[in-house]
Amino acid sequence: MADLDGNASAKKFHPDTPAVQFGHRIRGASNLDWGMQNRLARILNPDTGRTVMLAFDHGYFQGPTSGLERIDVNIAPLAEEADALMCTRGSLRTSISPATQSGLVLRASGGPSVLKELSDEYTAMAMHDAVRINADAVAVQVFVGGENESRSIRNMTTLVDAGYDAGIPVLGVTAVGKELTRDARYLGLATRIIAELGAQLVKTYYCEDGFEDVVAGCPVPVIMAGGKKLPELDALTMASNAVRAGAAGVDMGRNIFQSAAPAAMMRAVRAVVHENADPADAYELFREASAERVLA
Ligand code: R5P
Repeated sequence: MADLDGNASAKKFHPDTPAVQFGHRIRGASNLDWGMQNRLARILNPDTGRTVMLAFDHGYFQGPTSGLERIDVNIAPLAEEADALMCTRGSLRTSISPATQSGLVLRASGGPSVLKELSDEYTAMAMHDAVRINADAVAVQVFVGGENESRSIRNMTTLVDAGYDAGIPVLGVTAVGKELTRDARYLGLATRIIAELGAQLVKTYYCEDGFEDVVAGCPVPVIMAGGKKLPELDALTMASNAVRAGAAGVDMGRNIFQSAAPAAMMRAVRAVVHENADPADAYELFREASAERVLA
């Protein structure tokens, strides 16, 4: 028989204290289930509502990208500095420690290599594998205006349905073909379609004019994609402009892992995203952290 001796008989129900309300800063998430909100909070830092994601999924269509020749050597040491990692299940299982505490967004679409038509993608992993890996979201490319537009939408909605079953959010990525202009009109169209069709997060490129309208018109968090390698100050300025325009952070790859000092760049990007650091101050941080690395 259970030992009941010593149990306090008085009970404190705090009848005058209203039930807790959870205020959260994740746009469009208040009607999602607990598990999905919990996973979103592992990607978007609850203190700032923003994320610094480290993207290194490029190999899924372009093989050993410069800076990603050895993910265990180049990327693994940076993993803990990121709020979330964005990668393929192959690179994760082979090269990233299962002890990592970072959030995890798994690339879940693929098919063609750089040698073929890039929009010719299919869903490239099953949701139950994302569950097994303990992913916080899955990512899928959506080619609005592209040759295989409808199929890429179908890839996404299939994952959204499976994601609701598993409690795993979907990150829809606006994939801009060479022939499409990365302006606010196009990005606004693509991000809105992705959110309307069920993605809980959207990733898109930055545009100089009207990015705040792109973000305002999208009912879920918009995360800025990094794009090609820029000089560090330019990349920090772009990240700063994006978050000031309302983006919920950045998902950067080449501007971090192709930097001369990736860890220093990560620190500077974090300052811009989480502390609203001025880009010039963040660049100074980058220079100081790079020098520390050289002296160490
Ligand atoms: C597209 O979604 C790619 O797979 C990358 O994740 C994305 O482009 C971010 O990497 P980068 O900052 O190098 O463009």
